[in-house]
Amino acid sequence: MTDSYKPFEGRVAIVTGGSRGIGRAIAELLAARGADLAIADVRLDGAHATAEEIAAQSGRRVIAVEVNVANFEMTQTMAKTVVDEFGKVDILVNNAGITRDDLLMRMKESDWDDVININLKGAWNCSKAVIRDMMKKRYGRIVNISSVSGQAGQAGQTNYSASKAGLIGFTKALAREVAARGINVNAVAPGFIPTVLTDDLPEDLKTSILAATPMGRMGTPAEIAYAVAFLASDEAAYITGQILGVDGGMVMM
Ligand SMILES: NC(=O)c1ccc[n+]([C@@H]2O[C@H](COP(=O)([O-])OP(=O)(O)OC[C@H]3O[C@@H](n4cnc5c(N)ncnc54)[C@H](O)[C@@H]3O)[C@@H](O)[C@H]2O)c1
Repeated sequence: MTDSYKPFEGRVAIVTGGSRGIGRAIAELLAARGADLAIADVRLDGAHATAEEIAAQSGRRVIAVEVNVANFEMTQTMAKTVVDEFGKVDILVNNAGITRDDLLMRMKESDWDDVININLKGAWNCSKAVIRDMMKKRYGRIVNISSVSGQAGQAGQTNYSASKAGLIGFTKALAREVAARGINVNAVAPGFIPTVLTDDLPEDLKTSILAATPMGRMGTPAEIAYAVAFLASDEAAYITGQILGVDGGMVMM
């Protein structure tokens, strides 16, 4: 991807879960628009391959860092690696996420714990790992990837919906804490985007999701990336604590 618009020149970004899917599209766009960045992912091989491809496309410095966002110590080490490499962190995109869908009556305790620990605690861990650096230089952009499931609830996703609703509360609370320090914290709530995450959804569920989407189509990873890039830019300087739906009109608040 190439882009003549370069609002992120001189900026350093971390995209968690950036090796594929929505995270990859976000990393591609930020780099195309001038950011140096780290792809922080639990799948190091995938992260390396993606980092190499994005560096070649964009001419930016792109590194891969192994992290399980649910692990507090690993997120601290990940942030230190990025600061050692690039000198700072300006933008954090908390994108890493998983699903472990089942009806509550059948869902295992470990399915609840894994989803909450990765999707919600992971964003807390990574934000905590970079916030001191952002506060010191009085600049930062944090964008959390929530979901329509967190806004409206989705049957079979009590764990996932709770994690994504939790991210909305987290976004608003942190936004209030750091607004006076030049740090903006916002969330994007995607609708249905075809990725590995949604591959296994039963066909009847996909059909009913599309029926509930006024635009009548799925979104693309790039359409999520454009919203994230806006919130990560200086054009969004007066926007904080907001949840931007990118969902074909599925949820209108
Ligand atoms: N695809 C959709 O329809 C959709 C809709 C709403 C929200 N989202 C959210 O968008 C984000 C990206 O989803 P996607 O569809 O691209 O999924 P995906 O499975 O393609 O990508 C998720 C990425 O996160 C990484 N990851 C998983 N667990 C991790 C961990 N513990 N630590 C670090 N990295 C980890 C994976 O390796 C992968 O690279 C997720 O937070 C997801 O909940 C997706």
